[in-house]
Amino acid sequence: MAPVTIAIDGPAGAGKSTVAKRVAERLNLMYVDTGAMYRAVAYLCAQEGIDVSSERAVEAVLDAHRVSFEEGEDRTLQVMIDGVNVTSRLRAPEVSALVSTVAAHPRVRQLLTEWQRAFAERHSVVMDGRDIGTVVLPHATVKVFLTAAPEERARRRQEEYRRMGYEVSLDEMVKNVIERDRKDSERAVAPLRMAEDAVRIDSTDKSIESVVEEIVQLVENAHVR
Ligand code: CDP
Ligand code: CDP
Repeated sequence: MAPVTIAIDGPAGAGKSTVAKRVAERLNLMYVDTGAMYRAVAYLCAQEGIDVSSERAVEAVLDAHRVSFEEGEDRTLQVMIDGVNVTSRLRAPEVSALVSTVAAHPRVRQLLTEWQRAFAERHSVVMDGRDIGTVVLPHATVKVFLTAAPEERARRRQEEYRRMGYEVSLDEMVKNVIERDRKDSERAVAPLRMAEDAVRIDSTDKSIESVVEEIVQLVENAHVR
C-alpha cells in the first residue's frame, strides 16, 4: 500500500509541530518537522559565524560538516551534526533570527526537499513546514493549512521562550513572527502559501485536542473515499 502522507503548513506559532506530533502518535505515523531541518542549517551557520545572506558561504559550511537526520525512538526526527544530537538546541532565538534567510536559498531548499520526498516515499508520515502541500508532497493524502491570529501566535511563542528561559516582550515577539511570515511568504522559491486543495484550520480559539481531532477526522474521511 502507498504510504499515507499528511502535510501541515502554516505561519510561525500556528501550532503545527504540536498538532503534527500528536496526529502522528494517534495514527502511528512518523513525524517529520521540516522546520528543524532548516533550523539545523541556520544553527550551523550561527556556530560558524558566517554571513547567512551568502548562499555560497552557507553551502561551504554544509560541505565542511556532516549533517544528518535520523529517526528517534519516539518516531520523531533527530538532527545530528558531526555525530552530535543538536535537536534540543534548534529553537533558540539566535537560530530563529537566521532561519528564514537561510531557508530562502534555492540550493539549501533543493537539498532538504529531496531528503523529505525520499523519506515520504519510504514511510507513512505527518510532515509540517511551509511548502509541504505545495512543493514537497503535492499529492499528500491530506493537506492542512493551520493558522491563527498573529497576536495569539506571538503569545504562544513568548510562552515557549519563557519555558526555555528567554524573556522576550510580546511586542517584540509580534514583530518577530510577522517579519518571519513576511520573509517566508515573499521568497521566490517555495513561498509560504496555502495549497489550493488544503483545508484551512484557524486555531486562534481552538484547543490543541480539537485541532488534532479535526485532522484525524480528515484522514479517516480520506480513507473512506
Ligand atoms: O516552529 P516555527 O513556526 O517557528 O518554525 P519552524 O517550523 O521551525 O520553521 C523555521 C523556519 O524554517 C521558517 O520560518 C521558514 O523560514 C523555514 N522553513 C521553510 O522554509 N520551509 C519549511 N518546509 C519549513 C521551515
Ligand atoms: O510549529 P508552530 O510554530 O506552528 O507552532 P507550535 O510550536 O506547535 O506551537 C506553539 C505553541 O502554541 C506551543 O507551545 C503549543 O502548546 C501552543 N498551542 C496552543 O496553545 N494552542 C493550540 N491550538 C496550538 C498550539
